[in-house]
Formats: sequence, structure tokens, C-alpha cells
Amino acid sequence: MTDAAMEFVTPLTFQALSGHSVHSKLLDSDEENAMGHINLARWADEIIIAPASANSIAKFAHGIADDLLSTVVLATQCKVTLAPSMNQAMWLNLAVQENITALRARGMVILNPEHGSQACGETGPGRMVEPGHICQEILQTEVGPLSGVSVLISAGPTREPIDPVRYITNRSSGKMGYALAEMAKSAGADVTLVSGPVALVPPAGVKLLAVETAQQMYEQVLDCSANANIYIGSAAVADYSPIAEENKIKKDGANKTLLLLKTRDILASVAESNDALFTVGFAAETEHLEAYAKDKLARKKVDMVAANWVGRADGGFDKENNAVTVYWRGGQQDFPMTAKRHLAQQLIKLIAQHYYEKN
Ligand code: PMT
Repeated sequence: MTDAAMEFVTPLTFQALSGHSVHSKLLDSDEENAMGHINLARWADEIIIAPASANSIAKFAHGIADDLLSTVVLATQCKVTLAPSMNQAMWLNLAVQENITALRARGMVILNPEHGSQACGETGPGRMVEPGHICQEILQTEVGPLSGVSVLISAGPTREPIDPVRYITNRSSGKMGYALAEMAKSAGADVTLVSGPVALVPPAGVKLLAVETAQQMYEQVLDCSANANIYIGSAAVADYSPIAEENKIKKDGANKTLLLLKTRDILASVAESNDALFTVGFAAETEHLEAYAKDKLARKKVDMVAANWVGRADGGFDKENNAVTVYWRGGQQDFPMTAKRHLAQQLIKLIAQHYYEKN
């Protein structure tokens, strides 16, 4: 326990509930005799810091060892998992985000905090993930229904440049795709996420390939699909792209016309290029949801299509919740409106079930 942790809960409470002695001081002669920081660092199979404060995260990122926890973390060679918890403005602060990026790059697992109302009265990202989720992460990272399965996911929008300063894009936030990546990872899969420009932190343990245009997304997805078992196309890929001007288009008083060229269909190309791949597309529709989704299932020759309404008050683009109906040849299933993470968990379960039926 750090000094700050002991301000909230006494070591005696921790000891009574866990049935284990509590370590808190770096230079305590009794504790050093019993198990010093080096022994503690060697003894642990895995270190989970929950909640991880902005201060502790900064110490880990910069190698500061001025208390027992930061010293053990510096000395250990085991897997370290952080469950950050702090005020939303602190979490979004560039200093914290840069520390998080540095720790991820060094192999620490970061369980992204959840979005919601906070003790300080504000609303935003910064609430520690639920303890059950932390346990699930620890238990399921290696073994799960998708253990040994390679899952490729596309997420977010694409940006199609008009000139060096302007582009065409859409309202996708990437939330649905990132939630699918997180849940596929929790199910034990080896996950690669090809993402358009979004303001999200990638889930722990997921390989992120950042792209901007539909063409770049096409190239990355096609390249990675050769080694994947499942492809989930949740990205909102531009169907049309302008021919980008080399210089900024000048205002001259006349109306302008943009010629839009058709982009390549990533989902259909991936499904065609690799017969063994289990392919899941999304259908984002403002009308005729079922008919259009079934048409995409047949025309793009994919195994499943998750159809969602878009442009409505709830669900779809850039919302916290979503609802889908999933269609496959010979069946369909409704998933009512719920948080995108919860929906993603249910979708991954369904996809895993159908993937094994096909293989
Ligand atoms: O990102 P969020 O804000 O969380 O929103 C989630 C979402 C609404 C974007 C998501 O749930 C969703 O519906 N994604 C698909 C959006 C889309 O482009 O739908 P579509 O009906 O236009 O395309 C059908 C399928 O073809 C999709 O799987 C799409 O990825 C794929 N496609 C489309 C065009 C193209 N050139 N290549 C493709 O692979």
C-alpha cells in the first residue's frame, strides 16, 4: 500500500480481508527482514496496481523509486498491470497520456479506465474498471474461447483528403471497433486493430496499426488478413474518395464540383482473397436495415453481418450504446441496446461459436 492508499483504507483492513500481511514501507527494518523490496519483486507472479494514480503512473514512467510500490515495480521482471483511476481531465492530460504510451511500449498492461460519473462530480473517462473485469483480464489473457485464434479488426472512420488541409470523413468514433478488440483480447485472441483516426487509447495487449485513408486501410487489412482467422470490419470506410489537389484549393467566387472516385471494398476483397477466413461485416443503415444487411451478406460473400441503425437518437455512430441484429446464412439474432463494450462481449461470443462451427 502507498501512503495515499492508506489515507483511504487502513492496512489492518487489507490484512484482515486478504489474510496476508501488508507491505507499505520501503525502509522498515522488520519488513526488510521479512521480505524486502527485491524479494517482493522476485516473488510476485504478476503485479496489479489498482487503482493506479496519475502520480504512481508518472513514477513508473520515469523510473522514480521513492516508496515501496515504485521500487518493487522498478525491480520486478514479472508482468505489471495497471488499472488507472483519476479525474477525467487528469486522465486526458497529455502528460498522463504520454506516460501511459511509454509504459505500454515497455510492455506494461494498462486497463483503460471507464467513462462515467466520478467522485469529484465530473463525468468522463477515469473510473477504474470494475474489479471483476480486472480478474477477468488476469484469468483470460492466456486462455479463453479464442485462445490461439488471430482476430483482425478494422475500426473508426477513414479520412479522404481533398487538398493538404481538407478532407472528407464520417462520424465514426471507433468505440464499437475498439470494444470488439478489447473483448476479443479478453477471450484470448491474438488481436490486430487497423484503425482510422480516433481519439481512443488502444486496448491493452492489442497490436494497433494506425491508418488514415480507405486505400491505406485496404492495404493494411489485406496484408494482415493472410495470417488471420477472423476479420471483423467495423470501420466506417469511405465509399468514395476525391482526387486530392496538391495545393490548397483557393476561393475564387465560383461554385466547385468534387469528382469522387469509388474506393475498393475491403470486406469483399478480404472475403474473396481468403476462403478460410471467417468474415464479419457491419451494415450501417438509415432505412431498410434488414434488406440492406442481407444484401451485403450475399453480395460481399461474408459469414456474418451485424446490422445497426445510424443517424438516430441512440446507437450507431459516436454513441456509448448500440443495438444490432446479426444475420448469417440460415439465421439471425437480435442484440438489444446496451453499452458498446457489453454488446462487443456478446458479439465476440457469437462470432467464436460460429467460427468453430465453420472450422
Ligand atoms: O465507430 P462508432 O462511433 O462506435 O460507430 C460504430 C459504427 C456505426 C461505425 C459501426 O457499428 C458500423 O456500423 N460500422 C460499419 C460502417 C459502414 O461503413 O457500414 P457500411 O454499411 O457502409 O459498410 C458495410 C461493410 O463494408 C462494413 O463492414 C464496412 O467496414 C465495409 N466496407 C465498406 C466500404 C469499403 N470501401 N470497404 C469496406 O470494407
